[in-house]
Amino acid sequence: MPASRNIEIKARDRDPERTLELALALGASDEGELLQRDTYYSRARGRLKLREQEPGEDELIEYRRADEAGARASSYWRVPVAAAAELREALDAALGTLVVVAKRRRLLLLDNVRIHLDEVEGLGSFLELEAVAAGASDLESEHAQVARLREQLEIGDEALVGESYSDLLLDSPELLLRAAAEAMENAYAPYSNFKVGVALRGAGGGLFTGANVENASYPQGQCAETSAIGALVTAGETRIAAVAVTAERMDICPPCGGCRQRLSEFGGPETPVHLGRPGGPRQSTTLGELLPLAFDLEAP
Ligand code: THU
Repeated sequence: MPASRNIEIKARDRDPERTLELALALGASDEGELLQRDTYYSRARGRLKLREQEPGEDELIEYRRADEAGARASSYWRVPVAAAAELREALDAALGTLVVVAKRRRLLLLDNVRIHLDEVEGLGSFLELEAVAAGASDLESEHAQVARLREQLEIGDEALVGESYSDLLLDSPELLLRAAAEAMENAYAPYSNFKVGVALRGAGGGLFTGANVENASYPQGQCAETSAIGALVTAGETRIAAVAVTAERMDICPPCGGCRQRLSEFGGPETPVHLGRPGGPRQSTTLGELLPLAFDLEAP
């Protein structure tokens, strides 16, 4: 089975009932509601998710797509899965689960275009258009279809969303802080008794964590940020999309000066940094705020 391609957009939908009305008026067929639970895995080269759905067949989906807000091409494999629960466990053991996206999807079909009205747990209402390409298509007609439908369904530029649902969830401070807190449990800090955990989301979607590692020769210890950056780079990533820092004995633990410079090597001034504890007090800032005028060899 060859990989399939489509042209797709995703947008926030402030009025799903109206969108449904508009789509039905255009002649779209209503295929009813699906309950979908997508488990995303770490350490995949593209994006890998196991989709369990009711009604319908469970499937393993691999896909690659740029994070852009406008219409973009996606190529993907969809493989039917017979023993989804067992596969979910096996993939979790082999690769690690990144995040679970649960949603209720109303599926509408208009010719070769799939219209998704999605209610995503923790994120809200979205609308997706996917024009599925015929085998050898140059994708031009699919681009045109999506552009026309966008107008008919009144989807403005401001509503467009570039990230996948998994990225939107991973960007949530709460999830990142939870990952940081889990890493903190393994900190080796017998000298300071000050445990720190850090979670980094890589630009490719992966989640990387680290804890501080101290040493009897005190200056040889390393911060949690440094450990997490090591994990990110070792996995083949070089860009940080978001940072979370949590400490056992400090509500808000800002990264030390050296770590601000280390983080700046892989993130930009806009990169969000969340400080706090899961379920507790929290402060969100950016790398630029933490380290204005960061040293950069490439700077003019
Ligand atoms: N620490 C970090 O891991 N990250 C920071 O940004 C601040 C400090 C660690 C280093 C040391 O193991 C302990 O906290 C006390 O300084």
